[in-house]
Amino acid sequence: MELALDLLDKNTLPRHIAIIMDGNGRWAKSQSMPRVFGHRNGVKAVREVTEASAELGIEYLTLYAFSKENWKRPRKEVNMLMKLFVSTVSKELSTLNKNNIRLKAIGDLESLPPDTLAALNNAIESTKDNDHMTLNLALNYSGRWELTEMTKSIAKDISSGSLNPEDISEESIVSRLLTSGTPDPELMIRTSGEHRISNFLLWQLSYAELVFSDILWPDFRKEELYKCILEYQRRERRFGMTSDQVVKS
Ligand code: IPE
Ligand code: IPE
Ligand code: MG
Repeated sequence: MELALDLLDKNTLPRHIAIIMDGNGRWAKSQSMPRVFGHRNGVKAVREVTEASAELGIEYLTLYAFSKENWKRPRKEVNMLMKLFVSTVSKELSTLNKNNIRLKAIGDLESLPPDTLAALNNAIESTKDNDHMTLNLALNYSGRWELTEMTKSIAKDISSGSLNPEDISEESIVSRLLTSGTPDPELMIRTSGEHRISNFLLWQLSYAELVFSDILWPDFRKEELYKCILEYQRRERRFGMTSDQVVKS
């Protein structure tokens, strides 16, 4: 059987892929293990997907790691996840630098525990000049929060007189989002068979192709990523036009 990698069209790869890494808890449960076992094993999938994306030449990879809603989980699980972020970011730092990957984080970062934020900032600073790929970690994220903050920023600029209401444009909105300067994801993948978008990048995903995989995140490997990209490449992105209008190369 031909591998999905060989079937990929290297000229029409997405520039930006976003992945909702879901299913760690169910993966652990299926092995009668505690949920945190699933999170620990999810790190391997993060490594694989990062490596595969960098090899393909994907410019931006956004990984949904922890939502604002996830604070509602049991205290022990939340604490373990925060510790896991610190240890993983520290452990992977040399690999990121070796592979010329820049780490960034998007979300309500200021509200993260101080040691999590410190480890993150350290890795962000240390990788800031890398330019092969940007790995964007979505941490303490919320799309509604992001849009609320954007609205506040616009309101402040209007009340200070630096922005006229008539001049509000898509650009004034985009420049106030967490992803300012980053192209929108063309492909969003969610694992574990859940068909929903997890309250993030609500503006940015407007025209993304959504691909859902039944694989639980700890089992997600390079081949699975290739299959998702292949599905993306088989879709016709019409952006409101008719099929005949879409120029096929
Ligand atoms: C995703 O896996 C990881 C995080 C939310 C951090 P889950 O923990 O949501 O796993 P399920 O959905 O319960 O299986
Ligand atoms: C989404 O989180 C997965 C993450 C990577 C954070 P959840 O698994 O908590 O999402 P919902 O609430 O079930 O959609
Ligand atoms: Mg989940």
